[in-house]
Amino acid sequence: MAEALRIVTIVGARPQFIKAAAVSRAISAHNRDPKNLPTLDEIIIHTGQHYDENMSRIFFDELQIPEPARNLGVGSDSHGRQTAAMLEAIECILLEEKPDWVLIYGDTNSTLAGAIAASKLHIPVAHVEAGLRSFNRRMPEEINRILADRVSSLLLCPTRTASKNLADEGITDGVRETGDVMYDSVLFNTALAERRSRILSELSLAPKSFALATVHRAENTDDPDRMNGILNAFARIDLPIVLPLHPRTRQLIGRRIDELSETIRVIEPVGYLDMLVLEKNARVILTDSGGIQKEAYFFNVPCVTMRDETEWVELIEIGANRLAGSCPDRILAAYQWAVDPSPGAVDRSPVDASHVLYGDGHAGKRIVAAMIEFEAG
Ligand code: UD1
Ligand code: UDP
Repeated sequence: MAEALRIVTIVGARPQFIKAAAVSRAISAHNRDPKNLPTLDEIIIHTGQHYDENMSRIFFDELQIPEPARNLGVGSDSHGRQTAAMLEAIECILLEEKPDWVLIYGDTNSTLAGAIAASKLHIPVAHVEAGLRSFNRRMPEEINRILADRVSSLLLCPTRTASKNLADEGITDGVRETGDVMYDSVLFNTALAERRSRILSELSLAPKSFALATVHRAENTDDPDRMNGILNAFARIDLPIVLPLHPRTRQLIGRRIDELSETIRVIEPVGYLDMLVLEKNARVILTDSGGIQKEAYFFNVPCVTMRDETEWVELIEIGANRLAGSCPDRILAAYQWAVDPSPGAVDRSPVDASHVLYGDGHAGKRIVAAMIEFEAG
């Protein structure tokens, strides 16, 4: 029997719990039937970047993610202090655990801290969601991604665009196109979400009678002009808007939103299962989130992205998503496009076509295989 590979997984922020759940599930499936290959011992480290019950715990419970071995309890701080605290604590753990791989996800400060700590200790880094680029270096996420990709041994790309971006930067070794773990997750959880979630009746929402919105991206929340533009657009939208409000945004403008318009329904961030049901039943989604742009597509719901660029360019190219920036008139125009009922107004691509862009729902399995093969090779 081959010796087990030891994997330290670093997560800390909401979307990372959802992505890691898909890979942890694939690790468990592999361990049940390893076929003479090494099994994987996964040790999950939660940095504590997100810590509110509905930004963290709920995802571990709903998605049955294995309990983290350690929670570093780093919490919120400036970029430098937050990343430094994570780096120091992760380094100590890696020195104790001596894993074969450090597995990191996406582009948050937790991602960067894991990448730096592991690479300086010569521990190979596997980066899930490698190769995404917005080409906007004012985004903290863009810095985190570029640096994480530079020190990763395995670059696990969700899309063809991502592997092409890496090739354009001269990175070809260790690049694998795996498909997107968020697609795995939607396929695995949607039926469960529909059985369990009561969110539509709790909020008295009829299917396709509302817009779903989220706003949390620093470039919007931290710029009063952009934030005002988005709020002014929301006030002019003629459907009720359900807005599960990220704590970052609530702190900055929570009270104003409550007062802004009777048609904006501000709620606390919801769990993943409720979110899937809200997304599937929305008439349109308005967001600056990365993950939600893709989920809109998986559910065949037109998406208005309140940013100036996106990493998920294929959705713009096929006409499933429109970039609207933060100017109210542009957001309104994109919204009108999204709700236009005339045939062909929106390219309502069938969900089955998702595999062309985002894999076949088995990205987690490919990620596990890539770590084992790379180790063997
Ligand atoms: C982080 C990621 C971003 C990702 C987002 C997912 C970085 C640089 N940014 O942004 O890429 O899209 O997570 O949601 O890593 N807060 C709470 N409770 C919490 C968590 C945060 O109140 O449980 C508040 C704090 O005031 C904190 C603020 O939200 O200062 C921002 O949190 P932080 O983790 O720094 O960044 P996010 O905006 O969540
Ligand atoms: N999400 C959730 N509840 C919410 C808002 C988002 O479960 O109230 C999920 C959403 O379905 C997606 C992920 O969180 O899977 C996206 O995370 P977020 O928008 O915070 O980060 P980003 O993808 O922009 O990094």
